[in-house]
Amino acid sequence: MEYYVLTLFPDMITDGLHTSIIGRAIEDGVLSLEAVNIRDYTLSKHGKTDDYPYGGGAGMVMQAQPVYDAFMSIRNRIDYNPRVVYLTPQGKVFHQDMAKELALEKGIVFLCGHYEGVDERVLDEIVTDEVSIGDYVLTGGELPAMCMIDAISRMIPGVLHNNESAEDDSFGDGLLEFPQYSRPEIWRDRKVPAILLSGDHAKVDAWRREQSLIRTAERRPDLLENAVISPKERDFIRKYLANKNEL
Ligand code: ADE
Repeated sequence: MEYYVLTLFPDMITDGLHTSIIGRAIEDGVLSLEAVNIRDYTLSKHGKTDDYPYGGGAGMVMQAQPVYDAFMSIRNRIDYNPRVVYLTPQGKVFHQDMAKELALEKGIVFLCGHYEGVDERVLDEIVTDEVSIGDYVLTGGELPAMCMIDAISRMIPGVLHNNESAEDDSFGDGLLEFPQYSRPEIWRDRKVPAILLSGDHAKVDAWRREQSLIRTAERRPDLLENAVISPKERDFIRKYLANKNEL
């Protein structure tokens, strides 16, 4: 996977993503990451990349020309038409299924906006997907781009190593993850659930599955509709919730 990020703050992207698992994957050559500084492509003598909005109003708008030329500097040296993701609160809300789908691309270009927005004409010209990472407003698209790159990369074979498997994750089957415990067995008078010490793998698996069902029902009932659950498990959730409401 080749990631290209069009940004006014390239250090933010490279500093943030050259650590931990994503940093390792870049070093291993499973991923490549290039932050392209939009400012390098301005034709303005003073390095200007924004200007006042036509029609008036507060804030500044990122101009079309530097964004377009920065994009073309990438497009002209690759042999395919990449998806171009513009990060904006007005976009489609990012989701695990979108991460899985984007993980199949050969390369992705991210466009990070700042100020009051980006001239609509360059968006019309180059953007294929507008994506939001949630219903809140950030100061720029860099953190959203980094979130997306992290989530997409985990879905690419070779990024996670065996002991970091994506299989059991929250959302893998549409459910939240079960609780985890490590040594010691007792900490501040709190015991690890006895079943986890039993050595009975079938029982442990069944308990973990129940915990996932309970957690999802309690914390994110909206996820249950699309989760992969058997009729028996749906029944278990119904009974659990009915029992709880009686108490
Ligand atoms: N830019 C500012 N806020 C954003 C958000 N929530 N998602 C994506 N891009 C953004």
